[in-house]
Amino acid sequence: MLEIAENGRTWLLSGTTSSYAVHVTEDHEFLHLHWGPLIALPDAEALAVRPLPDYRGFESPLDGREEYPVEGGPRFTRPALSVRTDERRGTEWRFEAYDTEGDLLRLRFRDAEAGLGIALHYRMRGDVLERWVTLDNQGPAPLELLRADSATWTLPDREGWRLSHLHGRWAAESRLVSAPLTYGEKVIGSRRGHTGHQHLPWVALDTDATEEHGEVYGCALGWSGSWRIAVAQLPDARVQITGGAGHDDSGLLRLAAGESYTTPVFAGLWSDQGFGGASRAWHAYQRTYVVPDAERDRPVLFNSWEATEFDISEEQQATLARRAAAIGVELFVVDDGWFGARTSDRAGLGDWRPNPDRFPGGLKPLADYVHALGMQFGIWVEPEMVNPDSELYRAHPDWVQYQTGRNRTEFRNQLVLNLARPDVQDYLWEQLDTLLSSAPIDYVKWDFNRCFTDAGWPGEGYPQRLWVDHVNALYGLLDRLRAAHPGVAFESCSGGGGRIDLGVLSRTDQVWTSDNTDPLDRLAIQHGFTQIHPARVMAAWVTDSPNTQLNGRVSSLRFRFVSAMAGVLGVGGDLAQWTEEELAEAGEWVELYKKIRPLVQHGDLYRLRPPRGGLSAVQYVRGDESVVLAWLQAQHYGEPVPALRLRGLDPTASYECLETGEIHRGAVLLHHGLRTGLRGDLDAAVLRLRRI
Ligand code: GLA
Repeated sequence: MLEIAENGRTWLLSGTTSSYAVHVTEDHEFLHLHWGPLIALPDAEALAVRPLPDYRGFESPLDGREEYPVEGGPRFTRPALSVRTDERRGTEWRFEAYDTEGDLLRLRFRDAEAGLGIALHYRMRGDVLERWVTLDNQGPAPLELLRADSATWTLPDREGWRLSHLHGRWAAESRLVSAPLTYGEKVIGSRRGHTGHQHLPWVALDTDATEEHGEVYGCALGWSGSWRIAVAQLPDARVQITGGAGHDDSGLLRLAAGESYTTPVFAGLWSDQGFGGASRAWHAYQRTYVVPDAERDRPVLFNSWEATEFDISEEQQATLARRAAAIGVELFVVDDGWFGARTSDRAGLGDWRPNPDRFPGGLKPLADYVHALGMQFGIWVEPEMVNPDSELYRAHPDWVQYQTGRNRTEFRNQLVLNLARPDVQDYLWEQLDTLLSSAPIDYVKWDFNRCFTDAGWPGEGYPQRLWVDHVNALYGLLDRLRAAHPGVAFESCSGGGGRIDLGVLSRTDQVWTSDNTDPLDRLAIQHGFTQIHPARVMAAWVTDSPNTQLNGRVSSLRFRFVSAMAGVLGVGGDLAQWTEEELAEAGEWVELYKKIRPLVQHGDLYRLRPPRGGLSAVQYVRGDESVVLAWLQAQHYGEPVPALRLRGLDPTASYECLETGEIHRGAVLLHHGLRTGLRGDLDAAVLRLRRI
């Protein structure tokens, strides 16, 4: 809901449990008023007339109170907007007008000297407020956007803020870390050209919240290129969070006369239901507004990568497909190695035609075979890359990102294509459209396996559009392919979880969470991932034991399956090596997953205990049904394993555990807990409950 004060200068946006208010003064100062519990318009109006503090000389009363701090004038915080013309730097704006379009509020400002129009956008969806900015060069001269953040978020005066975020690296993504915020700035981001394994673009701030209680403020950026979020505690202890595309302040884009730039969305959420409540609200928002077709179940997939790596053939894939179908897999995905001269990571990227030795009749015969087995068929691609040893690179060595006279740094023997170039976009469209038309392909795993290093476009002036345009070209290609091939689902992968954000999630059906498929490490990765993103997009595979990719850890099929069943279940082990008993057991787990899938993929998630060495568990609730997935890493000293206090149940109802047949009272489960029966090391259980 949107309410506007009579003077047309105070705006109040309200969701189901939260409100957000801003105000423009007569002096054209754009002030933040409120972000938190629901308030009424008179409350916002009362906040609007509260005087600013009377700072003298060395501090600015605007700092920490402005809704979108621009560079220049009486402010010393990190600017959200920094603009340069040939004549001057910084912004002096006047408020022009506001307009609304459905639930969208647009506030228009203008810097007349610079010829710059600035429109700030607000849209409340559930309790998530989406914010973004459009910058218009309305003057005759070019403008340089040094920095153009999507939003600045202002927190209320409180003592003892704590910052939580997700950090990582390859095979160790999305690990949750929390620490007290102190004076100064904490900056996270990526200067790698993609979202990065190092941080998901999300932060949460609280003072005393727990998993299920207390106020939590969260912000998440929808951008799949380089980005930055800066969290600042200012000299008077006020806290602001500013973020957007690009990492540095040294040139995002040049806007010629008449050109405009729209930032990605930076979304914010307030919850007083602790970290769990905040996560559930983020999940509901993504399932409702962000992820395409989120109401559809994601199928159980098999992926060939860990089983066969580059050594693939049609016959061997067909053998795996038969075994996959027999255990109940619904989507069979051929990973890397099916195209061009791709018999190792040294060659072939860029040539998106089936390797004639490996697939003499193209992909169609295998795809038809997989369909005949009752499964969907999927393939792996990495369209933004090229191996120097490829037909594409030999024909177009200038299609990559490079700088004249400098090295072309190879990572994994590959270079990054310059997707900002229209001819590269045309080539990729033609290759991928042809590929998707050549065989009945239902699913595309879209990978991105190296960071930008020598990002240059010889002949183009600075600042170069390539960083921003690469991401927009990627989005454009995905949008166009989705429109032309509406039955095809897409997965975002970047060496595991290197490209996971609200931007890519608005055009993909799921993401590859991590190349780390060790079921124990995964618990921590998944614990971090679900802080922001729903299980509905979190792909997880059961692979071989001992773990072949990382650590040789030995674990039971039970532990591996229950770990992977917390998201979108997949199987990635070498099924050709699994015994009849293992295949039979796997079939039972897949069958069980299909039963709990509606809860896992569409239900409310409660993280009952974090994975910290002993017992950890998650619970999903949907309507009258609930399921608990519990894991015991190691039992020590023969101590009893604690019962799990459940959430989201009706205390007055009774629930039957489908695994044990026991009847439990809701109040008992909520206050005294459910016993899991777990013991020893690396044990796991699935416990389904149905209201009776
Ligand atoms: C990346 C992906 C893997 C696999 C390989 C193939 O590392 O994350 O799952 O697809 O590429 O080369």
